[in-house]
Amino acid sequence: MKLKRILKWSARVILLALVLGFLVGFIAYWRSTNECDSKTAANNPMKAILHCEYGGPDVLKVEEVEKPVPNDNQVLVKVRANSVNPLDLTIRGPLLLRPLFGLRKPKDTRLGVDYSGTVEAVGKNVTNFKPGDEVFGGKNGAIAEYVCVLADRAVVLKPANMTFEQAAAVPVAAITALQGLRDKGKIQAGQKVLINGASGGVGTFAVQIAKSFGTEVTGVCSTRNVDLVRSVGADHVIDYTKEDFTKTDQRYDLIFDLVGNHSFSERRRILNPNGICVMAGIGGAGWHEGFATRLLGELNGYLRSRFVSQKFIAYIAQFNKADMAVLADLMQAGKVNPIIDKTYKLNDTADALRYLEQGHARGKVVINLEQ
Ligand SMILES: NC(=O)c1ccc[n+]([C@@H]2O[C@H](COP(=O)([O-])OP(=O)(O)OC[C@H]3O[C@@H](n4cnc5c(N)ncnc54)[C@H](OP(=O)(O)O)[C@@H]3O)[C@@H](O)[C@H]2O)c1
Repeated sequence: MKLKRILKWSARVILLALVLGFLVGFIAYWRSTNECDSKTAANNPMKAILHCEYGGPDVLKVEEVEKPVPNDNQVLVKVRANSVNPLDLTIRGPLLLRPLFGLRKPKDTRLGVDYSGTVEAVGKNVTNFKPGDEVFGGKNGAIAEYVCVLADRAVVLKPANMTFEQAAAVPVAAITALQGLRDKGKIQAGQKVLINGASGGVGTFAVQIAKSFGTEVTGVCSTRNVDLVRSVGADHVIDYTKEDFTKTDQRYDLIFDLVGNHSFSERRRILNPNGICVMAGIGGAGWHEGFATRLLGELNGYLRSRFVSQKFIAYIAQFNKADMAVLADLMQAGKVNPIIDKTYKLNDTADALRYLEQGHARGKVVINLEQ
């Protein structure tokens, strides 16, 4: 009798919580708004790429917004070039991320992270940059004529031997490769390293960075990219359309996997007993068949590797000034040369994203604001 009453009350409480949750979600959804709803004419305008709605590249617009003004700790950068990354495709508003990004409309309407440019003004506390310095870095909403960035964050001087386009190609992709190989993969000279997805934005940097550590690198790519992957320094190249890299007799100390299209057991078989598989991505940019399966496969790999000697590690790269400086040094020393697949004008940013979304970029896709 008592148990029946408890069950009845529990059911009522759960039902009430569900109804309330639905109501709160419904109201939050319809109240979700962004700056586009209250946009007024800019006093000191600059062009920026905006997406007022969720959707594919078609929702991107070139709009006039207020030119930012640096505070005491910031530098104002006149942007010369940007590059796009799979990350930018979150403009589609994946349902799982909408509680963070805005339920009905994106809270942050600006696009892009990677930029290079010239310092135009500095705040009064800034001592490490001066007007005229050529810099590159990462900052949300970077695809615009100007960005304001904190001087102590991920912004460093552009090496003189790099063009603005090359420098803009670097930040997200190269820092992902650097942190994945060095911090997660514990890369050491003399190791055998396999890079799956070696021809894309991150992969072309990963091959070069792995070589800079004195390792023997095998890159995996399709037929048309074999020469490209060899040209960036891979010692061996496996054409995935002809050969399955998990079915050879080779063993590796480190797998840097940007594709995630092989099972835990398949990858474990080709890892040395203390080898590490760094699970950095699940294939080229954009939605593709097997997206969800690969995501679950990586979770499975992470969980199962708790019980074996090899480690399977996932991570999200984080910007910091020290790593940007490491990349600048590698570029200066000629050890990292950004590979640019295509360059677009600012007005054609939507086309740049459409191309990236096909998932077959060869190196980086860049936007040049000077054109
Ligand atoms: N963990 C992080 O913090 C982080 C940061 C940045 C990116 N990522 C992820 O890393 C992945 C790669 O990013 P990205 O910027 O390099 O993307 P991307 O530039 O779009 O990569 C495109 C490349 O992927 C290759 N590819 C596609 N399917 C392949 C397969 N089955 N085997 C081998 N290569 C294949 C393509 O080569 P083909 O044309 O020859 O197929 C193409 O060259 C994405 O999943 C991205 O989300 C993760």
